[in-house]
Amino acid sequence: MERRPRRNRATAAIRNLSQETHVTASDLIFPLFLLEGNNNRTEVASMPGIHRLSIDLMLKEIEACLKLGIQGFDVFPVVEESYKDKMATKSYDKSFFYLKALETIKKEFPEAMIVTDVAMDPYSSDGHDGIVENGQILNDETLEVLGKMAVAQAETGIDMVGPSDMMDGRVGYLREVLDDAGFHNVGIMSYTAKYASAFYGPFRDALDSAPKFGDKKTYQMNPANRKEALIEAELDFIEGADVMMVKPALAYLDIISDLKANYDLPIAAYNVSGEYAMIKAAGLKGWLDADRARDEALMSIKRAGADMILTYFAKEYMESKIANSQF
Ligand code: PBG
Repeated sequence: MERRPRRNRATAAIRNLSQETHVTASDLIFPLFLLEGNNNRTEVASMPGIHRLSIDLMLKEIEACLKLGIQGFDVFPVVEESYKDKMATKSYDKSFFYLKALETIKKEFPEAMIVTDVAMDPYSSDGHDGIVENGQILNDETLEVLGKMAVAQAETGIDMVGPSDMMDGRVGYLREVLDDAGFHNVGIMSYTAKYASAFYGPFRDALDSAPKFGDKKTYQMNPANRKEALIEAELDFIEGADVMMVKPALAYLDIISDLKANYDLPIAAYNVSGEYAMIKAAGLKGWLDADRARDEALMSIKRAGADMILTYFAKEYMESKIANSQF
């Protein structure tokens, strides 16, 4: 045999030197759940190890993550039912705790890359990402709300807005309103190929944001579709997205790889709440080694072509990497 691939697997040193893919701190974005108030911290039941945090505790968490080398954070608000209404008006109310907190975060940590969430669901009494009328999710009318929300977020000093709503035309619309308001430098991390997925369950527990009726299939993509992701990507590219995201990640590695092959923009992948929960749950039951499963999952997302990975594992991954001195 002239070719013996096992030679490159013979020792740890040879394996490390011939390793094709590395997941490092600069690949990671840590999603955070913000609570109103102070000194307030509650664990998400379906996401062991992940806590909703009030701003004071979130600042400490961000500081700890920055020390671990994590530079990106995606902040989501936990909104009390009494603040919710049909038009998600709190989403662009300047005195609302989410917008105040974003401002505080950027003041404390100007070096951190802060991404926001642009979608109506956390603030909507219907629990949908758009305006609901007679059981339908309105597209063009929703854009106006998203525009107000994005500008209000940009005013806090954040780096990128993350439209996660899947309304048609929202990237172009947001680019226009952000530019008109003077925010040429605020980027758009578009949820380009966001699928109607069961893997968002724990996130909706965390924010108490599940739809009050029906599902999100008229705006989020059909998990069966691969080519359609390229249509979404083409539109987002033309409309001015700075980063294109695939979500979820693990059941959609083919989509990540397609976008990477066809576009030169950075590609992000969202390793979503259910993907985190599955590994954690199996680990807690002793059914698999959760740390190894975590590392393998993140590696596979990077290997498929993701330049950035949004993951609830970000902090513990870096902690374990540093503890094991794997640089
Ligand atoms: C809201 C939003 C969702 C997630 C991110 N932004 C949930 C949804 O679309 O229902 C899911 C994130 C996760 O599951 O970790 N538009």
